[in-house]
Parts: sequence; C-alpha cells; structure tokens
Amino acid sequence: MALAIRFHDQRQGPHESSLRNEVLAGFSAEQKWLSPKFFYDQRGSELFERICEQPEYYPTRTEEAILARAAQDIATLAGRDANLVELGSGASQKVRLLLEAMHPASYLGIDISKDFLLTSTHRLATDYPWLEVHAACADFSKTMQLPKGFDGRHPLAFFPGSSIGNFTPPQALAFLTNLHGLLPPGGALLIGVDLVKNKAVLEAAYNDKAGVTAEFNLHLLERIHDELDCDLDPQSFSHHAFFNECESRIEMHLVSQTSQDVTIEGQRFHFAAGESLHTENSYKYTAAGFCELATHAGFRPVALWTDPAALFSVHFLRRE
Ligand code: TRP
Repeated sequence: MALAIRFHDQRQGPHESSLRNEVLAGFSAEQKWLSPKFFYDQRGSELFERICEQPEYYPTRTEEAILARAAQDIATLAGRDANLVELGSGASQKVRLLLEAMHPASYLGIDISKDFLLTSTHRLATDYPWLEVHAACADFSKTMQLPKGFDGRHPLAFFPGSSIGNFTPPQALAFLTNLHGLLPPGGALLIGVDLVKNKAVLEAAYNDKAGVTAEFNLHLLERIHDELDCDLDPQSFSHHAFFNECESRIEMHLVSQTSQDVTIEGQRFHFAAGESLHTENSYKYTAAGFCELATHAGFRPVALWTDPAALFSVHFLRRE
C-alpha cells in the first residue's frame, strides 16, 4: 500500500541530548523543574490518552461536546477549502469532529512524538480517504514553520486541549504572537482554553482516583531513568497536584519521599525529604482574560463557545 500521508521532519538535533541538557539545567535550579514536553514520548502519549478518559478529567469530553455542537459555525467561519493545521495533534481525535463539517483541502498534524503522530495521521488518512494528510514532527514550542503551500490557502490553526495553559502567560503571549506571524492575513486560530472554576473540580481533574495522572507525571522520571546515565529511583517520588489561586494555575510536582542524592550524567543533585520537582503548570483563564491575551498577540476574537456549566471555552480568532 502506498504511503497515504506526507511526512515532514522538522526536529532539531537528537532528542536525547536535549533531555539531558534540560534535566541538568532544571535539576540545578533553586526550585527544581523539568520541561513538560518530555511527557510525550510513545508511552507518555498513551498515558495522556488514558487521562482524557478519566471521569474526573472534564476538559477533553467537554471540549469535544463544544466542538461537535459548533462544527457547522466553525466550518462557516473557516470557509471552503481551508488548510487545517493541528498543533500537538496527539491521537488526532478531536479534529474528526470538524472534518465532515469543514471539508478542508488538507490536514497537517504537528506533534513532538513521531511514532504516535504517524500512527494517528495514518488512521486519519484511512478513515477520510478524500483528505490530503500531512504529518510534521516538531517541537512547536520552539520551531514553528508551516510547510510550503500551507501558508497560502486559508490556514486554520487548531490548538485544542487547553495546551496553551501549559505555557506561562508571557510564554503564551509569545507563542500566540509567533503563530500570528506565521499565519497570513485571513488565517485563523481555533483554540481550546480551560476556564477558572471551583477549586475542588480543578484539583480532582489532576488527581484522578485511578492514578493515571500520577503515573503520567512519574513517567518523566522513568524516561530519565531509562534514557540517561543515572541512579534515579522513580519510586522514591510521588505525584502532587494542586490549584495555586494567586497564579490561577494547577501546579504539578514530583515530591521526593526521602532525603537523597541523585547522580545524573556524572552530576550530583540533592533532594531534601519533601522537596519537589516542578513538572507542569496548567493555567486557567476567564473567557474575557483569554480574549485580551489573544488581542495583544494581534488576533481578533470573532466567536466563543462554552458548555452549559462554563467549564471550558473554544475561541475562534481571526488573524488581522
Ligand atoms: N493540556 C493538559 C492540561 O493542562 C495537559 C495535562 C493534563 C497534563 N493532565 C496533565 C500535563 C498531567 C501534565 C500532567 O490539562
């Protein structure tokens, strides 16, 4: 069978060296931290798909319901023959809610996890034989470029899952400004943004009873253990997630259960008992607050959909 998708490799340098460099830098900081993008290798991407199925994790199913309901409106706003570009496409499930209504000229999935990306886009190409499917492997928080042809035909960037919330607000502004620069006038951005709400609901979403989020968080340490030269014991850390109201963000940490020294690539790091490694933030916005941020980046908010309980929002922003 012919290869049904077109693959663009936009990775910069080997992954391992950047894991190594970021671990050494992050573990040397006063508040130890680790870049969350390393969550998403094949196993991490699979674990994240399982998080999305947990009863406490409301964002995925809420956003899907919003997209299903808004698909016709979105198709009208996007126009005929748009080029749909999904950032951090993962399993490429949500985009299915748009494809029939939109009938885009082409689809481009961009993701950091190559194998996962290829499997997902292949599946899409099989299920939608009329669709021209492209896959680009890239760290879109760093390099973002649209392959040739994608910048011309009414691109609609699709950034679901409230992944924008995983940037700090200044980083989110820089990211949106960068995206604004890549899109031609008349292009647009469809973006899912999780909303500020009751603390108990928020905290439950990142502390599911089945322990999948904990497993996902700890998977970062397993990667370090497997891929770097070190004596780190993932079992000696535990998952901790809470809502920081002042910053309007969920913080994800891995807490050292004991006082311990860890050697990674010949460098020694000390963890006090109870000391944490900060792994992820998930900022929560008000709808108005997010519109303001997008406006600063040069976008014009043209439509906004939420669910009846106002848990989640989907914004259609025009590139001016
Ligand atoms: N964008 C998702 C969110 O912020 C990512 C996410 C969900 C996540 N659960 C997580 C990231 C747990 C790290 C750990 O909701």
